[in-house]
Amino acid sequence: MFSLAGKTVVVTGGGRGIGRGISMAIAQCGANVVVSGRSKESLADARSELEALGVQVHTVAADITRADDIARIVSETQERFGAMDGWVNNAGSASPDDIGPLLGVGEDQWDRVVDLNLKWTFFAAQAAARAMTRGGSIVNITSRSASHPNPNTGHYGAAKAAVENLTLTMAAEWGHLGIRVNAVAPGVVMTEELAKVFNTESRIRRQVETVPLQRLGTPADIGPLCAYLLSDEASWTTGALIAVNGGSPVPMGYLSYLHKVNSA
Ligand SMILES: NC(=O)c1ccc[n+]([C@@H]2O[C@H](COP(=O)([O-])OP(=O)(O)OC[C@H]3O[C@@H](n4cnc5c(N)ncnc54)[C@H](OP(=O)(O)O)[C@@H]3O)[C@@H](O)[C@H]2O)c1
Repeated sequence: MFSLAGKTVVVTGGGRGIGRGISMAIAQCGANVVVSGRSKESLADARSELEALGVQVHTVAADITRADDIARIVSETQERFGAMDGWVNNAGSASPDDIGPLLGVGEDQWDRVVDLNLKWTFFAAQAAARAMTRGGSIVNITSRSASHPNPNTGHYGAAKAAVENLTLTMAAEWGHLGIRVNAVAPGVVMTEELAKVFNTESRIRRQVETVPLQRLGTPADIGPLCAYLLSDEASWTTGALIAVNGGSPVPMGYLSYLHKVNSA
């Protein structure tokens, strides 16, 4: 029903993983897409896949943890398309070297994870909002981790929780400017990166057992909601924190029991 035709949307970290799925959904709805990320190879891959959908694509090799790179994403978008209607703050992660139980987390690990997932997510949103002179829509990609305990990734969960809180304040402060801000919180989504961690059948099964809908997510599960939030049909939706997780907040033990009962 909704369309993004005529709109220009930036997706940070849009070259791979969930960001690639979001870029695809947005392009399928007709938007011009600006894809940013550090890996030029991922950007080139994404570009050819997106252009095949008939939309205009611009790629910007940029590190979101650098203020000048964020400024360049904005200026290149304006130069190429004239205006910016949407911005998806998707770039984020916690590298395997930076995670572990809270008792062992060092200051450097904390800074890397919290800077990428909170500090620079904020400054990217601020830069986007400053550039949205005719209003617009910002979508912050948070995580199920924002509202649950996260053994081994506590600092990542805390950063994502903070982004959800900032989403509420951004929505309140920027509503009068015609800028809507919402958050999408994925559950476990199988990306190439995650496949390196969930690399055995039993590891995958343990995750699937926490999901009422009995499968892990894919990047294609996240994009359509983002596309909706970027569209005019969502023009009365702001400050919403929306989970896309197959229902996974249900406790694991209970679900294992249910799945067993249902398959008996
Ligand atoms: N997969 C999940 O299960 C899951 C669950 C909940 C939330 N999330 C969130 O969803 C978002 C995407 O996650 P994903 O699983 O698709 O991650 P991923 O496969 O690890 O990819 C991370 C993305 O972020 C970009 N990125 C990382 N650091 C960057 C930097 N300094 N500057 C610019 N771009 C950077 C990467 O692009 P380059 O490497 O090219 O820079 C890549 O596109 C993240 O915010 C993540 O926290 C993921």
